Amino acid sequence: MEIRRVGVLGCGLMGSGIAQVCIEAGYETTVLEVEQRFLDKGFGAIEKNLSRAVEKGKMSAQAMDKAKSLLKGTLRIEELQGCDLIIEAVVEDLKTKNEMFSALDRLCPDHTILASNTSSLTVMAMAASTKRQDRFCGLHFFNPVPVMKLVEVVKTIATSQETVETCFAFSRSLGKVPILAKDNSGFIVNLLLVPYMLDSIRALEQGVASIEDIDTGMKLGCNYPMGPFTLIDFVGLDTLFNIANIMFDEYREKRYAPPPLLRKMVLAGYFGRKSGRGFYDYSGEKPVPVDLGI
Ligand code: CAA
Repeated sequence: MEIRRVGVLGCGLMGSGIAQVCIEAGYETTVLEVEQRFLDKGFGAIEKNLSRAVEKGKMSAQAMDKAKSLLKGTLRIEELQGCDLIIEAVVEDLKTKNEMFSALDRLCPDHTILASNTSSLTVMAMAASTKRQDRFCGLHFFNPVPVMKLVEVVKTIATSQETVETCFAFSRSLGKVPILAKDNSGFIVNLLLVPYMLDSIRALEQGVASIEDIDTGMKLGCNYPMGPFTLIDFVGLDTLFNIANIMFDEYREKRYAPPPLLRKMVLAGYFGRKSGRGFYDYSGEKPVPVDLGI
């Protein structure tokens, strides 16, 4: 099936990144938000990224104008009616997602594929709110979307092979590398990454080493681009806490249980980079490790 028009639900970090890569690849893209200010913020980030690419000579000014002309924002779900593929990237709340999916299911033509960028919820729990379970899958992008090459294409027990093939071709057309994952909470990457991030917090709680030394250890010892605490601050402590809770509910295994320190930091509003403080304080020129009294 050919995808020409794409809809994106949500214009936050993930939604705006997904919209950016779609317009860069030449897709007419409509982004739905609940308030104009969220669209303005996300579109501002897209504009900044594209302008930087032009400044660096990685994109022509003409290509940027073409990409921008393909982007549209809306506050009305009805405007997504003509989309061939709709990718949801709203909050990790099943009720919110399902309200949107069942409305889109009624609104969209038969051929439209609905996809979720969920990082931890079971895709079938969303597909079940529609009458198009065969045309429903997970499309999980990674942050920052314009840079990260991977897309997990999640096939539920009801997703058709045609939908999977269309989503593989679509992901490749964005310059991404798709991989096939079963519909298990956390798919492939978070199944392995979430316990690693939680174990890093447990190591800190146990006094194994300092925030900086654990980060330096994993960065230089494994050649990871970021140490675990820099990565957790980047992902968001609230996001990690939410994902860990969903995965713990699913598997009931200790390795997915959020450590008490994470819970306390979320309660204190230490969400990471987005709130200016997590394991590091971002108020100065350089991030400084926070004294957590450990
Ligand atoms: N948006 C767009 N482009 C960005 C960007 C952003 N937010 N952040 C960095 N970039 C671009 C820069 O412009 C730069 O581009 P050029 O090469 O064209 O100059 C390039 O990325 C490299 O950036 P920097 O030189 O500033 O910094 P860096 O080399 O340290 O790279 C990074 C930054 C790409 C974020 C790198 O540190 C990295 O890969 N970190 C790990 C990210 C990661 O693991 N993400 C997965 C998180 S988990 C997840 O997303 C799943 C989930 O469900 C929770």
